[in-house]
Amino acid sequence: MTKEVLDGLLSDLQEFFKNDYSGHDYNHTMRVYKLAYNIAIQEHANLEIVSLAALLHDVDDVKLTQSINYQNARLLMNKYGIDKVQEEVIAIIQDVSFKGNQSKSPSTLEGKIVQDADRLDAIGAIGIARAFTFGGNHNRPLYNDENPVLNMDEASYRQHKSSTINHFYEKLLLLKDMMNTDTAKELAYQRHQFMKNYLEEFYDEIEGKK
Ligand code: ADP
Ligand code: NI
Repeated sequence: MTKEVLDGLLSDLQEFFKNDYSGHDYNHTMRVYKLAYNIAIQEHANLEIVSLAALLHDVDDVKLTQSINYQNARLLMNKYGIDKVQEEVIAIIQDVSFKGNQSKSPSTLEGKIVQDADRLDAIGAIGIARAFTFGGNHNRPLYNDENPVLNMDEASYRQHKSSTINHFYEKLLLLKDMMNTDTAKELAYQRHQFMKNYLEEFYDEIEGKK
């Protein structure tokens, strides 16, 4: 991908995400792109495919658009004459956005990397900020005395109204064991430790201990 194509794509994405949907905005896309790119270098993956799939991974998200057959990603790739790798990129977006079965791992290295980057963005300092933003947008309490609900399927989970702290136990603390690549496992481990430290501080402060 040339610099001109990348710059053009970035400005198109900025326009696309300008109505800022909680959690799936332009900045999320940029973070996933940068992370995926860095992981791809470590893992010796195809940088063009990883870059395109990361940049386009959310443009056909059902929560954002009523897109059919990944039309937004296809439209953008056609605009820049990206032809040869188009189907490979679409296949990755399809795998990464697949929600029915959380254990589904993309079949190519490039797909595994984009999925890892998307999941890494849900943990660590950014993950904590996104979780509380989501909670605020959905009128959820920061914490309560309910127990976390484990092993709920994706569709039911979306209906379930957990406190944001419970979301850590239901999802965020489980993500480090779902990484595909060694590079992402290492990054996830660091982010995981950071979240655990954060939770310890949080409980101490709730109890007025600090
Ligand atoms: P994705 O499409 O990437 O799976 P989601 O819409 O499930 O994204 O989540 C977007 C962001 O909101 C993520 O950072 C996620 O952790 C957070 N989030 C999702 N559900 C909850 C919840 N019940 N409580 C707090 N944060 C949530
Ligand atoms: Ni995403």
